[in-house]
Amino acid sequence: MHKDFLDIIDYSPKEIQDLLDLAIRLKKEYKAGGNEPVLKGKVLAMIFQKPSLRTRVSFDVGMRHLGGDALYLSPNEIGLGKRESIADVARVLDGMVHGIMARVFDHDHLIQLAQWTTIPVINGLSDYSHPCQALADVLTIYEEFGKIKDINITYVGDGNNVAVSLMQIAAKLGANFTIANPQDYDMPAEAIETCKPIAEENGSKLTFLRDPHEAVKNAHVIYTDTWTSMGQEEESAKRERVFPPYQINDALVKEADKDAIVLHCLPAHRGQEITDEVADGPHSRLFQEAHNRLHAQKAVLYTLMKN
Ligand code: CP
Ligand code: NVA
Repeated sequence: MHKDFLDIIDYSPKEIQDLLDLAIRLKKEYKAGGNEPVLKGKVLAMIFQKPSLRTRVSFDVGMRHLGGDALYLSPNEIGLGKRESIADVARVLDGMVHGIMARVFDHDHLIQLAQWTTIPVINGLSDYSHPCQALADVLTIYEEFGKIKDINITYVGDGNNVAVSLMQIAAKLGANFTIANPQDYDMPAEAIETCKPIAEENGSKLTFLRDPHEAVKNAHVIYTDTWTSMGQEEESAKRERVFPPYQINDALVKEADKDAIVLHCLPAHRGQEITDEVADGPHSRLFQEAHNRLHAQKAVLYTLMKN
């Protein structure tokens, strides 16, 4: 039984599958009239050091669906590690709320929050990873293909936080993960090395390429994300020169499996990493994926905060 949800890598394939099964059940239950108020009287503190639409709304609404409440703490509000030390913020919240969801720059800040609390801490995105996104992504893949194992997932673009969590969940669930990214924009070497034995154990093939055309061959899922993540804004001019060959456009989608779906965690920069034709076209599952954040995270909240 875990206290926190910080990274996909910390969870076993069975535990991830259990979260997925629960997400599917909660989604069905919600659509059939509403969820049981299993978190009645419970409050989730949501710490944001970066902007958000999906994460903020889905956690807030998810708590309400389960009978609880959520508290938004804006970037300037508590000044995590600036106005007050992380250890002090953690110990204050520990006695007032029942869980913390935090979106931070430095992944280590999440680890510190988790260490200084007895209540669950959930990673709502760090510079290193985005596990809630990955859970919603595989839920979307399952809804489309009826399975996750042996699905070919190809990520095209920056080796960022979203890519790391997607690779981890693919390795855990036996999906094949291919990434094509420019030189100097690889995922962290440590994340790759940690994932390799896990992939091997679960029958998942990991492939690391530079060429997006080679990468999308036989892809069932094509995935992309922004070229410039939050916090990297001063690099955006350089990135806009490097990344155009990695754009997901109609021509690239045609090189994948004919029934391939396209995913993007959003927000999308249309005309950069993805074109309008693809984002709004027949292969796109972008909004189903965004909506699945709600259902996937309700499974996390339920599992960690119910008792
Ligand atoms: N995909 C995602 O996490 O979106 P937000 O940044 O809007 O929360
Ligand atoms: N990689 C992006 C994801 C946003 C949800 C970022 O970190 O800004």
